[in-house]
Amino acid sequence: MVDRTARGDGPMTGAVVLGVGGSLPGRVVTNDDLATRLDTSDEWIRSRTGIGARRWVEPGTATSDLAVDAGARALRSAGVSTVDAVIVATTTPDRLCPAVAPEVAARLGLVGTPAHDVAAVCTGFLYGLANGVGLIASGAARTVLLIAAETFSTILDPQDRGTAVIFGDGAGAVVLGAAGPGAPGAVGPCVLGSDGIGADLIQIPAGGSRQRSSGLAAAPGEHYFKMRGKEVFRQAVERMAEVSLDALARAGLTVGDIDHLAPHQANMRICAAVAHRLGVPEDRVLANLDEVGNTAAASIPVLLAQAAADGRVKAGDQVLAVAFGGGLTWGAVTLAWPDAVASFGTFVPAGS
Ligand code: ACO
Repeated sequence: MVDRTARGDGPMTGAVVLGVGGSLPGRVVTNDDLATRLDTSDEWIRSRTGIGARRWVEPGTATSDLAVDAGARALRSAGVSTVDAVIVATTTPDRLCPAVAPEVAARLGLVGTPAHDVAAVCTGFLYGLANGVGLIASGAARTVLLIAAETFSTILDPQDRGTAVIFGDGAGAVVLGAAGPGAPGAVGPCVLGSDGIGADLIQIPAGGSRQRSSGLAAAPGEHYFKMRGKEVFRQAVERMAEVSLDALARAGLTVGDIDHLAPHQANMRICAAVAHRLGVPEDRVLANLDEVGNTAAASIPVLLAQAAADGRVKAGDQVLAVAFGGGLTWGAVTLAWPDAVASFGTFVPAGS
């Protein structure tokens, strides 16, 4: 018989955030750096996206390296050294097979802990959060380490100015624990959605079973990330506004209760349009797009870790996080910010 009391308090236990970590590579790539090899300009990139620079890993650094750093930071922030489950949300795993989470867990000293990946592109953190909350609610876990980590620089087409200027690398993580609703750090209902009819709007065409089973070699460039940005833009605004309202309603909150909107850092114009539709004033919209670009799944936890570490987000603040990404996927959740000291800093490669 399963002893549910050993891990969690039985079905329908709520989840709280116990600790937060974030990690960015030290290498800063400015718009001017990119303009030396692409037909683009700092003026175009800033005005169309809000991005001034992004961080890219040095050659040899993989997603697991950033994930381990962010994960260790979140564990320290939570004051724990073990958890009952590890989840890694990523679009850029070290290898297609196996999942990266078991390796990350092992490197964090968590051999034996169940560990799995979640793939929901830019909505990955929120899908991972729903997974973690579900493990706690079911009694399968009492604590969960959720890491969202990306090295998008490894999948960008260096010649594609439509994507190369947008994406950055980074990792963010939270430790989730079990507690009743209303507790500090409480995670509200996670509201998620998907529309696979738009699967080809954001994709890496080659390298998967569709291309491999054809028996044909991948066409040049097909291993790179592709995005039909203009078509994604409109849907992103609509879905993010809609799912935000849904998450607020399910949490029993209104826009007026929100201290911070933490939108996926896709594009400054998307974030502004979502805030406008929701009626959230500009000074309540968190942003770091200017410095880090779009870090896909890592975007929201990196933003929150940074904002908590620099004092913008304080214990007790009500946060609404919302994302949209490849799949297509989208999601939103409310978080009552915990009384935890976030650990946010620069990733230092081993041996340097
Ligand atoms: N520098 C200069 N010109 C450029 C650049 C660039 N870096 N990129 C595109 N252009 C050009 C285009 O070639 C085009 O030129 P043309 O008119 O001569 O054909 C013109 O600028 C306009 O291009 P658009 O693609 O229409 O530009 P837009 O204003 O839509 O901006 C962008 C492009 C930034 C990608 C925008 O569409 C966007 O942010 N889309 C949403 C992205 C998103 O939210 N994705 C989901 C999450 S990410 C994920 O899930 C991984």
